[in-house]
Amino acid sequence: MIRKGIILAGGMGTRMSPLTKAVNKQLLPIYDKPLIFYPLSILMLSKIKNILIIVNKGQLEQYKKLLNHGENLGIKISYLEQDKPRGLPDAFILGRKFIGKDKVAMILGDNFFYGQSLSKMLYECVRIKNGAKIILHKVINPENFGVAKTKGKKILSIKEKPKKFFSDLAITGLYFFDNKVVDYAKKLKPSKRNELEIVDLLNKYRKKNKLTAEFIGRGGAWLDTGSIEDFYKTSNFVSAIENQQGLKIACLEEIALLNKWISKRNIHNSIKFYGNSEYSKYLKKLI
Ligand code: DAU
Repeated sequence: MIRKGIILAGGMGTRMSPLTKAVNKQLLPIYDKPLIFYPLSILMLSKIKNILIIVNKGQLEQYKKLLNHGENLGIKISYLEQDKPRGLPDAFILGRKFIGKDKVAMILGDNFFYGQSLSKMLYECVRIKNGAKIILHKVINPENFGVAKTKGKKILSIKEKPKKFFSDLAITGLYFFDNKVVDYAKKLKPSKRNELEIVDLLNKYRKKNKLTAEFIGRGGAWLDTGSIEDFYKTSNFVSAIENQQGLKIACLEEIALLNKWISKRNIHNSIKFYGNSEYSKYLKKLI
């Protein structure tokens, strides 16, 4: 079982400046919650309690103010700072002590997932014995993502943001790795754009026939919130679902309660902490 997870929540968010000049992108709102709640909820739905959040240098206090060390959610959050965006695999170099001898999941701080069969899929992913697993989703703009060609669950080839059409299956920002990921990441060389590339890391697994995929089907949604337009699109999506169903997406306390990690007392603490908000009203209804 994978019991540790990393949220990579640094990056300069330059595409969203001036919004991101003083506040980290992952703390900006997607409808009624900070963006970071959504990837954190995915790790919690995967039953992962031990979580490392990697943030930009100088922005740690902002995150701590919001999530602290996760005590009230029944989880354990630790933090590390990344001094500059060296690429996604840097998470495994920075996080090597956190990972230790274990397997690890990683989710990008700006990725949003939603769908009925999600929990079942996550359950499959955390059970990998060795190798690596990626999650694929069909998109109409594959040139903006890492993409994969597949045969069943097997990955035949992958490319980062290909200019010419290669496949319309995007590699989402949620990955599951065995412990070899630390060694593989250490051996990577920076690409032409001077970053360590996640595709190069995944290729190390693929070459050994150790890279497999799960799919988010038509009933599920995956949205990458890289731009202001994406923020609005995702906010509208969350608002539509929440106001139709009366159920919240990514309510961290609700997930923790369902996982039996916390009690009603913790929910009361959260209500006090958040104050008189819609989110608090929802928490009140839970108990
Ligand atoms: O969202 C899925 C896509 O994410 C994948 O399809 C691509 O294969 C993968 O490379 C990545 O592409 P992006 O262009 O979206 O990556 P970006 O540089 O925007 O970084 C994604 C998130 O990770 C963002 O929230 C910032 C954070 N980040 C990024 C880098 C490079 C860090 O915290 N540190 C970093 O060094």
